[in-house]
Amino acid sequence: MNIGRLQIDYPLILAPMDEVSDMPFRLICKELGADILFSEFTSSEALIREVPKALDKVLISEKERPFAIQIFGYQEESMAEAARIVERFNPDFIDINCGCSVRKHVARGECAGLLKDLKKMESIVKAVVKATKCPVTVKTRLGWSKEQIDILSIAQMVEQTGAQALTVHCRTRCQGYRGHADWSWLEKIKKVIRIPLIGNGDITSEVDVKKMLATGCDGVMIGRGAIANPWIFQQSKYFLKRGKFLPPPSIEQRIALCIKHLKSAVDHKGERYIYPFRKHYIGYLKGLPNVSQLRSDLMKLTEVHSIIQRLNDFAQENSDKKN
Ligand SMILES: Cc1cc2nc3c(=O)[nH]c(=O)nc-3n(C[C@H](O)[C@H](O)[C@H](O)COP(=O)(O)O)c2cc1C
Repeated sequence: MNIGRLQIDYPLILAPMDEVSDMPFRLICKELGADILFSEFTSSEALIREVPKALDKVLISEKERPFAIQIFGYQEESMAEAARIVERFNPDFIDINCGCSVRKHVARGECAGLLKDLKKMESIVKAVVKATKCPVTVKTRLGWSKEQIDILSIAQMVEQTGAQALTVHCRTRCQGYRGHADWSWLEKIKKVIRIPLIGNGDITSEVDVKKMLATGCDGVMIGRGAIANPWIFQQSKYFLKRGKFLPPPSIEQRIALCIKHLKSAVDHKGERYIYPFRKHYIGYLKGLPNVSQLRSDLMKLTEVHSIIQRLNDFAQENSDKKN
C-alpha cells in the first residue's frame, strides 16, 4: 500500500481514538507491531487558536513514524489552515475525520455530520488537498443511515479530490457502535477505487484480521481491539505469516508492559493521568487468574508507586500459575 512516499504491504494500523491513542499508548502499540499510528482527532479551530491541548495532540516523536495527524472541522478555510499548521509537524500524511459519530460534532456539521452533506465533504477534502504538500487521506463510515449508504460514491469522490487513501469504519453514523460492522462493503468499495482502502470495525483477533484482508482491502485499522489486547498487532502478524497462533503473553509480560505504559503515561501527562489510565487495565489484566481483587485495588489506589507495587506483588504471587 502506498500513501505518498510511504510503502507498506497490508499494514496493521492503530486507530485514532480520542483520549486513548495518545503518545504513550501509540508507542506501546508500535512496540507490539502496529505499522502506522494516528493522532487523536484534533479540532481545526483549536489548532488555529493554538490551544495547548490541540497542539500537544499533534506532536510527533520520531519513534512513532509512520504517523498520521487527524484533523476535523466544518469550514474549508479552517481545515486548510489547520492542514498548513500540522504540516509543520511533518506527519507522513494528514487524515480528515469524516466519521466520528459524537452528537456534538455531528450537530456542527463536522466529522460524521459531513455524511449528510457530501458536497461539503468534497469541498473540505479538496481544500485540504490544495493547502498542503503532505498526502491527505479520509476516514469515514458507510453513510448516514442504513437507508442512506453512500460509501461507493463517497469513495469515488474522495479519490477524485486527490486524497491518497480511504479508511472505512463499516457502520453508518446512525448505528454509532451498535450492531456489527459490515465488512462486505469493503469488497464493493475496492471495485470502484484505485487508492488504498483501509478496513475498520470490530477487529478483535488475528482471525478477524485475516478475514478482513480477504475482502481485498489494503490495510486493517484496529481500535477497541487494541485497548482490549495491545498484543493484537504482534499476534496477527504471526498468524498471517505462519498460520499458527502466537502463545499469549505471560503474567510477567502483561504486568511489566502495564507498568511501562503507566510510567510513560504519567511522565507524559502528569500524575493525574492515573485516573484515565484505568481504562487500560482491562487489556493488560484480561484473562488472568485471581484478578478481581487486583482490579478493585487498582481502582482505589491514587499514587503511582503504590499501583506499581500492587501490580508487582500480583505478578509475583501468580507467576507460577498459567494464564
Ligand atoms: C474511545 C474512542 C475514541 C475514538 N476517537 C476517534 C478519533 O479521534 N478519530 C476517529 O477517526 N475515530 C475515533 N474513534 C473511532 C475509531 O477510530 C474506530 O473507527 C472505531 O472504534 C471502530 O473500530 P474498532 O471496532 O476497531 O474499535 C474512536 C473510538 C473510540 C472507542
